[in-house]
Amino acid sequence: MTNVFLTYFQCPICHTSFHLKDKQLCCENNHSFDLAKEGYYHLLPVQQKNSKMPGDNLAMMQARHAFLAQGFYTPLQKKVVQRCLEEFEEDACVLDLGCGEGYYTKAIQTSFSGDVIGIDVSKVAIRYASKQATDVHFAVASAKSLPLKQNSCDGIIKIFAPFYPESAHRVLKENGKLVSVMPGPLHLQELRAMIYPTVRPHEVESTPAGFQRMFLEQLKTTILLKDDSDLKTLIQMTPFAWKFTPEKIAHATSRLPLEMTLDFYIASYQCSASLGVQ
Ligand SMILES: C[S@@+](CC[C@H](N)C(=O)[O-])C[C@H]1O[C@@H](n2cnc3c(N)ncnc32)[C@H](O)[C@@H]1O
Ligand SMILES: [Zn+2]
Repeated sequence: MTNVFLTYFQCPICHTSFHLKDKQLCCENNHSFDLAKEGYYHLLPVQQKNSKMPGDNLAMMQARHAFLAQGFYTPLQKKVVQRCLEEFEEDACVLDLGCGEGYYTKAIQTSFSGDVIGIDVSKVAIRYASKQATDVHFAVASAKSLPLKQNSCDGIIKIFAPFYPESAHRVLKENGKLVSVMPGPLHLQELRAMIYPTVRPHEVESTPAGFQRMFLEQLKTTILLKDDSDLKTLIQMTPFAWKFTPEKIAHATSRLPLEMTLDFYIASYQCSASLGVQ
């Protein structure tokens, strides 16, 4: 059986191909990377780390996992799979950028027969994801400098994750596609109203350089948060969690049960022949 890491990955330091030495990935210049016991590779060299523990920390990852496990984002997960089935061939190689604990990656893997790869800069997230979705090929790596071969992937998904068009463009095949999820105008407006004097609607993200938008769909729904653990885990997985003082959290929990708007944009983009950047 061919090793998926040899097929798609390259050395994050010198960009040469890998071969296997026992279970280690070794490049032509003898940089070597161990296989973690959970089955992932750590391909983030220190020089690419912008902090000691980059990406989401354990508390953030656990909060997201607890919230997703309640099924609040199941409609979005279904929409993402549906969009990917429309955009990618059934045997496509799909890369999930900033995959977190693998909630969407796992759903993609069960719907496609091709290789599915998950990348995240957070080691705790990848460790967790690897235990959950054993048929996905995970690596700790940065989306900014992907340790993947040029033109190796058919499709990329990125869900609420940072995106570096140049890096993504390099690893996508010529006709590769990107499926992206971003917050819609009113996403979590009730939560944002608790900390901001005026809640400005989110705008659609601009089309990344080197891509052409082919499709845009909005998914808007409301959920009912009944108990304080759901509310607290939701707060903790947002980028504005730090704005919630203990008083604000107490005020929010006093308003339970609380209706909350979920609003998402799901877009697909076609990779253009040229990057379109200087
Ligand atoms: C909001 S979370 C979304 C996770 C997952 N896509 C989901 O929706 O469940 C953003 C993720 O991006 C990761 N991340 C942040 N910077 C990154 C980078 N430069 N490269 C790869 N992943 C990154 C974080 O560690 C985190 O897991
Ligand atoms: Zn190397």
